[in-house]
Amino acid sequence: MKLTINKVLAREVLDSRGFPTVEVEVFASTSSGKTPDSSADSIHEFRGQAIVPSGASTGEGEALELRDQDKARYLGKGVLKAVENVRTKIAPSIVGRSFNSFAALDEVLLDLDGTENKTELGANAILPVSMAFARALANSQAKPLYQLIAETFGSQGQTLPVPLMNILNGGKHADNGLAIQEFMIVPVGFKKFSESLRAGAEVFHHLKKVLNERGLATGVGDEGGFAPHFSGEKPHEQAMQSILTAIKLAGYQAGRDIYLALDCAASEFYQGEAYQFEGKRLNSSEMVQLYSQWVETYPIISIEDGLAEHDWKGWAQATTALGGKCQLVGDDLFVTNPKFLKKGIEQKTANSILIKLNQIGTLSETLSTMKLAKQNNYASIASHRSGESEDTFIAELAVGTDCGQIKTGSASRTDRIAKYNQLIRIQEALGENARFAGMAAFKREQRSVV
Ligand code: PGA
Ligand code: ZN
Repeated sequence: MKLTINKVLAREVLDSRGFPTVEVEVFASTSSGKTPDSSADSIHEFRGQAIVPSGASTGEGEALELRDQDKARYLGKGVLKAVENVRTKIAPSIVGRSFNSFAALDEVLLDLDGTENKTELGANAILPVSMAFARALANSQAKPLYQLIAETFGSQGQTLPVPLMNILNGGKHADNGLAIQEFMIVPVGFKKFSESLRAGAEVFHHLKKVLNERGLATGVGDEGGFAPHFSGEKPHEQAMQSILTAIKLAGYQAGRDIYLALDCAASEFYQGEAYQFEGKRLNSSEMVQLYSQWVETYPIISIEDGLAEHDWKGWAQATTALGGKCQLVGDDLFVTNPKFLKKGIEQKTANSILIKLNQIGTLSETLSTMKLAKQNNYASIASHRSGESEDTFIAELAVGTDCGQIKTGSASRTDRIAKYNQLIRIQEALGENARFAGMAAFKREQRSVV
């Protein structure tokens, strides 16, 4: 059944950091102008809505996020140009036209832009239209979005992901002297998503007590994790130790129930071909050695962007040393782009990819990248950005593709919690069919290949 677009609205709204981003609403009806089962004259319209997120530690290869650069508004971060591109360039090209899949709509959007990095219209103009149309299409077929994604992706759409919860923030997301951006807990040893989430939230609350007792600040960073200023030696190990204490206090066993994961976002502390780390300049092999020591000492299951995005040699060393023991995730390295992922596959670099819709700019391209990852036994992790909103699209994406992992922040702040709450709803809707990914999501040999 084709869906005809009747109207597209775009507006400037705010993200979780209080900076502007783009929201789009798509209104559409089935080509007869009636609901699929309606014989009456009433024309039923279907609606889809979406908000694009925004990153802070962005990879250089990401699709363009169009900002107005008008210093008089929002310190130059306004998105009125992107909104205008939706209203005057995208809407006139798609209103009145019918599409039977979101891939068909995305193709038109890509043609309209015509550039490699979406520099003509901006990914923040294209993506919300792509996402909102997918929602309208799911609504018109009276099915949840994750089911529509599953049918398109060729998956079952029944796997609730393991949450990678960023409970201690550093790097560009905090102001506390930690080079590493994210210290995450990964509650894998549970039967249900809701139990895994509960364990994660309990550890988060215990971590607050642990930090309080040490006289450290418990204000939260951009992704809802604490952002304490550890003084003295080896602050990064102090961070991991504090989390391990919190896991224990919460009554869980680290390395069985709950693991640790890091997003180093290492491009941010890579200067002049060296890593500026805890007051030293480390080369790539020294950085890899440090990670290897940590993996021996701490129950680390995943390291994201351990090396900088241009340090492919360092990445190769890391993959050789750690690829068999640990999930190595390319975020800034791959920017959800099949071109960079292909290079990684060819060079056997990393073994997993972070998936951010706005790095590439359409839902269809995101799914193509995830398919390429799956075919090559790379894990995909559906991810938020540090600038988020109430939009829960990535919860649907994670379940729809059965990718098994979601990274969407700590157990605080509604922009993060909204995704977790949506996963709870999906778990309930799936009922007996719901599966929790658990440890299988991290065992590469157990991943099914499409
Ligand atoms: P970003 O951070 O959204 O600021 O890029 C998240 C991440 O690096 O994974
Ligand atoms: Zn990252």
